Amino acid sequence: MKIIGLKSIVIVAALVGVIGCQNAQKADSSNSEEAKVTLRSTFQDDFLIGTALSAGQIMGNNELESELIAREFNCVTPENVMKFMLIHPQPDSFNFELPDKLVALAEKNDQEVIGHTLAWHSQVPNWLFEDENGELVDSLTLYSRMKEHIDMVVGRYKGRIKGWDVLNEALNEDGSFRNSKFYQISGTGYIYKAFEYANAADPEMELYYNDYNMHNQAKVDGAVRIAKMLQDRGIRIDGIGMQGHWSLNYPSQEQLESSIKKISDLGLQVMITELDIDVLPNPYNITGANISDNFKASKEANPYVDGLPDSVNQLHANKYESLFKIFYKYKDNIDRVTFWGVHDGHSWKNNWPARGRTNYCLIFDRQYQPKLAYEKIIAIGEEKE
Ligand code: G3I
Repeated sequence: MKIIGLKSIVIVAALVGVIGCQNAQKADSSNSEEAKVTLRSTFQDDFLIGTALSAGQIMGNNELESELIAREFNCVTPENVMKFMLIHPQPDSFNFELPDKLVALAEKNDQEVIGHTLAWHSQVPNWLFEDENGELVDSLTLYSRMKEHIDMVVGRYKGRIKGWDVLNEALNEDGSFRNSKFYQISGTGYIYKAFEYANAADPEMELYYNDYNMHNQAKVDGAVRIAKMLQDRGIRIDGIGMQGHWSLNYPSQEQLESSIKKISDLGLQVMITELDIDVLPNPYNITGANISDNFKASKEANPYVDGLPDSVNQLHANKYESLFKIFYKYKDNIDRVTFWGVHDGHSWKNNWPARGRTNYCLIFDRQYQPKLAYEKIIAIGEEKE
């Protein structure tokens, strides 16, 4: 008779555990919806839990992914398909097919939709700013083109979108205004107009300013200045989005809390938008998400091609845990936390600031499975009860 060693017993026990666990998951999936603990159920009384959807995800190309999106999130933002260049590439041409599908999908899944974005210096066609000779147009021409765009796009989804990122990334790191083509043509005029036109197109929806590196106090002070400029003229703004393109090393608790308080003090909602935690080396020494930053990838800057070491996965989970503790502490001020992507395989961070790297910034892995960060976030939600 063959004697089974301790190692084999452990393996058999582990397999029984895995199979038992799989059966439990199957049984769970056939149970009622209330039995499932998910991100959206865990934080339903606190803040919305959102994600960004790519074109493929809107099309529902992958069943497992579609099921995950419906199960875990109660809010969606189009990662790209509502950007100016994609939705309105030519003066007389609009692409509404994917945006329409996104809104219908969200309604089917009982999810809110956040529109992204109306006035942004990036992913915007030159025709918006230029005349037939390629010269910049005057401010009145710009305003009339902006109004046409906003009326058409916001108007189409009137009553079906919770809020729009009306203005995106209009600031430099020191809080001064970005010298975009919008700004070159109109100074700060386009900022007032964007909010005015958006409000007129759908007076019920929420209007947001959205930017990255908002843990940087000079930058958040710039955002506060924009909000005050609008409020001083009686123009509505409802919230400020802090894009969470962060890493294992930042932001600090002090920075984050200070920024949340500065926004809340204006009577505005705080939203954590575009959340992802970069785990890769940063020899480029940059933070944030300035899309035009572009570096050459190197082997040293891409060390986890074959998998993320447990030690780094733990740091990643710890960072999410500490962030969600702060979000939960400020749940009365924070309306939404949106991840910038569904799973690691689809994150823009695999291609920025250098193309072709293997990053692990989200809370679901490349096989759509929850990571340690997910477990820690859920645990925070469960502790509160
Ligand atoms: O769709 C084309 C595809 O046809 C083509 O083959 C491929 C070749 O590179 O490019 C595809 O388009 C890419 C698109 O993402 C869809 O994947 C663009 O090149 C690429 O520039 C674009 O990047 C997006 C980026 O914004 C620029 O719009 C990222 O997915 C998106 O995550 C990122 O999101 C921004 C937020 O909107 C604003 N805040 C910063 C954030 C990160 O940059």
